[in-house]
Amino acid sequence: MALPSPETLQLFLDVATEAAQAAGAVLKTHWGKLQSIEEKGRPGDLVTEADKNAEAVILATFRRHLPDHPILAEESGVIAGSETQYCWAIDPLDGTTNYAHGYPVSGVSIGLLIDDVPTVGVVYDPGRDRLYRAATGLGVTCNRKPIQVSTTAKLQNSLLVTGFAYDRHLTSDNNYAEFCYLTHLTQGVRRGGSASLDLAHVACGELDGYWERGLKPWDIAAGIVLVREAGGIVTAYDQSPLDLSSGRLLATNPAIHAALSAALQATPPLSTWSDVDKMATVAPLS
Ligand code: IPD
Ligand code: CA
Ligand code: CA
Repeated sequence: MALPSPETLQLFLDVATEAAQAAGAVLKTHWGKLQSIEEKGRPGDLVTEADKNAEAVILATFRRHLPDHPILAEESGVIAGSETQYCWAIDPLDGTTNYAHGYPVSGVSIGLLIDDVPTVGVVYDPGRDRLYRAATGLGVTCNRKPIQVSTTAKLQNSLLVTGFAYDRHLTSDNNYAEFCYLTHLTQGVRRGGSASLDLAHVACGELDGYWERGLKPWDIAAGIVLVREAGGIVTAYDQSPLDLSSGRLLATNPAIHAALSAALQATPPLSTWSDVDKMATVAPLS
């Protein structure tokens, strides 16, 4: 992948920022006043007028500034463009379930893949009015101040986050066993409900690590850039290079990456946690 000049990356970052802030304004307008909450197909996979209207202002911003760039947007799908090395992965409202319930943890996520490599990322959290921005080689900021991942050195001292995809009712590969095991091994595992904010919270050191399966590029493209520029590591569960199309990732500070990877691969079956004698065979880390 040929990285564009810093000036070009900065321009892309500024366009993504303008789009994310415009979408954030739309999300604030609809907050607490939703008229329409529909299921998109799978149970629990919701879409509201906030998702649709926020996506519309993002797409309008890109049409104005970067009309030849291809886009993959959650609600509109693929929008072709002649600059085929680029693809903007856009989630206008990441955390729709939280938003629809009035739980203030959701955000706008706009990431640029260059030849499939996440390279520019903007995540806006309207609930906390936080703007996270990063581009490869240009660093990462939250509200214009540099951020970095945590220094927590041991898995047993870590606070993690994960999530459960909409197909969790249909597959036993649903992350339930991993959630129990990591809850057993650490100071806690949170379920934030917004993959892009989960990654942003790892990038700013509020959380030490994140893993999840069943993710789409629009959930994670931006957040991956945030974590990497903040000094974190993002890979597949087994530490091999990230494959976005797998929908699975592991993002942590550098100190706990190997230990969390090992734990994910050694997860005991879910039945372990229904029986206190079986549980006792799984020692917490010391
Ligand atoms: C969801 C959130 C959630 C994750 C799901 C995503 P949506 O995105 O990021 O945290 O667990 O897998 O689909 O549907 O709110 O945009
Ligand atoms: Ca999402
Ligand atoms: Ca969404």
